[in-house]
Amino acid sequence: MQYAWEEEKLGKAYDAALMKRLMRYVKPYRGLFVAAIVLSLIMTGTELVFPYITKIVIDRFMLPSQPYEQAIAGVAQFALVFLVLLLARLLFSFIQVYVLQYTGQRVMYDMRTEIFSHLMKLPVRFFDKNPVGRLVTRATNDVAAINEMYSAVLVYLFKDAFLIVGIFAIMFQLNWRLASLILLLTPLLMWITFEFRKRARDAYREVRRKLAKLNAYLAESISGMRIIQLFVREGGSFQNFSGINREEYDANMQQVTIFAVFQPLIGLLRAVATALILWYGGFNVIGGAFTLGSLVAFVSYIEMLFQPLSDLAEKYNILQGAMASSERIFLLLDEPEERYEGKTPLEVKGRIEFRDVWFAYASELKGVSDWILKDVSFTVEPGERVAIVGPTGSGKTTIISLMLRLYEVQKGQILLDGVDIKELDLESLRSQMAVVLQDVFLFSGDILGNIRLQNDGISRDRAIEAAHFVQANDFIRDLPRGYDEEVKERGATLSVGQRQLLAFARAVAFNPKILILDEATANIDSKTESLIQSSIAKILEGRTSIVIAHRLSTIRHSDKILVLHRGRIIEEGTHEKLLANKGLYHALYTLQFGETGGRSTLDQTRRVEEELAAVEEDSQWLR
Ligand SMILES: Nc1ncnc2c1ncn2[C@@H]1O[C@H](COP(=O)(O)OP(=O)(O)OP(=O)(O)O)[C@@H](O)[C@H]1O
Ligand SMILES: [Mg+2]
Repeated sequence: MQYAWEEEKLGKAYDAALMKRLMRYVKPYRGLFVAAIVLSLIMTGTELVFPYITKIVIDRFMLPSQPYEQAIAGVAQFALVFLVLLLARLLFSFIQVYVLQYTGQRVMYDMRTEIFSHLMKLPVRFFDKNPVGRLVTRATNDVAAINEMYSAVLVYLFKDAFLIVGIFAIMFQLNWRLASLILLLTPLLMWITFEFRKRARDAYREVRRKLAKLNAYLAESISGMRIIQLFVREGGSFQNFSGINREEYDANMQQVTIFAVFQPLIGLLRAVATALILWYGGFNVIGGAFTLGSLVAFVSYIEMLFQPLSDLAEKYNILQGAMASSERIFLLLDEPEERYEGKTPLEVKGRIEFRDVWFAYASELKGVSDWILKDVSFTVEPGERVAIVGPTGSGKTTIISLMLRLYEVQKGQILLDGVDIKELDLESLRSQMAVVLQDVFLFSGDILGNIRLQNDGISRDRAIEAAHFVQANDFIRDLPRGYDEEVKERGATLSVGQRQLLAFARAVAFNPKILILDEATANIDSKTESLIQSSIAKILEGRTSIVIAHRLSTIRHSDKILVLHRGRIIEEGTHEKLLANKGLYHALYTLQFGETGGRSTLDQTRRVEEELAAVEEDSQWLR
């Protein structure tokens, strides 16, 4: 199984083209961005002053030579300055954090909006190829990685650079020998922290990857618990789990080890640096070359210096992650959208024509078998009821998907009222048709919401009327909260037939010109079905309908029946005509209803299928 994390690759930490494109998202908040930088520079400035004030206070007022009264007054005065600066820093810090987080959150909000609206415009083909989990990661984790870069790196890079330069400038001014010593130590410190961060990041990624695997396994096992228990697969499942659980444990321990080794090491280095200063500086203070205040200030500056230096490595990691994330996001955003614009038909009559349609899901054809539909031609006149029958996998659902332009045909044309659907406005094309698909999808929300699908044009009354029409009212009324009952876990608490009735009501409420039913009544009992049939007959008046059914009883009264076999229409006509033909339809029909039943009809079906297979081999399907 492929997990979302596993594709995470890391590349450059800085890519000018990507950064330029990222900056476009910051552009609307340019002013705030600059404000955040200026504020953090001011804050850094105040921070730099604190140790210096300490130095002044020590050197001027804390030496025994000072008169007592004067010293007290001086200390009090500087304490006041200190306090004012602290308060100012508090205020600036609040504003800066707020402004920075505000812009970061806005950028994230804008990005997620763009990703979701883009996703909605991508063709169905795209979703066949891309796992849901990965797309969800784009809109959440990857966007968060970019926000982290924005709020933890961009502004702070200015701040840190300013801070480091400032500290060294002051240190050199205080004592250039000591400052040079520190300057020599910094590469070592940076090297160790970089090594540490690199390893820590790799270990962290490994932990995340294993955790994702563990999560996926748990989620799958828990939702499939019923099957595991029914087939008594607890043992095997547990063994798999133990393996994955162990991997997660190992990854965590690896991470712990890295931290356990490096953190004390970095701590040691800091302590050594401080000790060096105290040792060298101490001698100088005793010798009178250096004031006590300067030494204290020096120690404080060293502490201030360590933080940005060790953060630098962390920021490099964040930047690298953000570049990879933005590359993935832009790849998604660059995926071409489906073309929506086109002619908007004023009034649709509902005549559908397939003209020599060839279709394959695969973009590269390797053989004859890749063609799912082969030279399919048929017409559906306005108001006609047409049925499509055929064995599993023969391409019935595919015909419907093409009609709704979920996929584009490779050869041939599909026409609505004589106009190629490629030239029609996609929205107006789809709004002419209502579909009940084979696998019903219910959204979270209530029953009514699932019928209306957030369409304000459908009133509560109309939705309820539609439910009445398809006989769904009976079961909905029995629910504790009726139409306001919450739909849980994609309808897990409803029976399969009840879900189908809801999908049915949804289609009817949309009041389409063309109604398409793919196995819509497969899981509904015969009595309800015949009730539905009679109500449907009423709404179907003046409308075109296309019905796919395995249960042949439901389509007996269709105006026309198309028999599909391996992507080819092999028979076409009314029920009576097809029975008289004694072909596949007759074989399937007698298998379902024939009194003879049993072996002989099965044999007949097999014979017909073999004949068809022979015909197929003879002819040149692949043109
Ligand atoms: N999204 C897809 N990508 C690739 N191949 C697909 C896709 N959907 C269907 N197929 C293939 O196309 C063929 C026809 O599928 P289709 O769903 O149209 O069959 P069907 O006649 O509706 O079958 P059923 O009666 O079981 O619903 C099958 O061989 C199937 O494997
Ligand atoms: Mg199907």
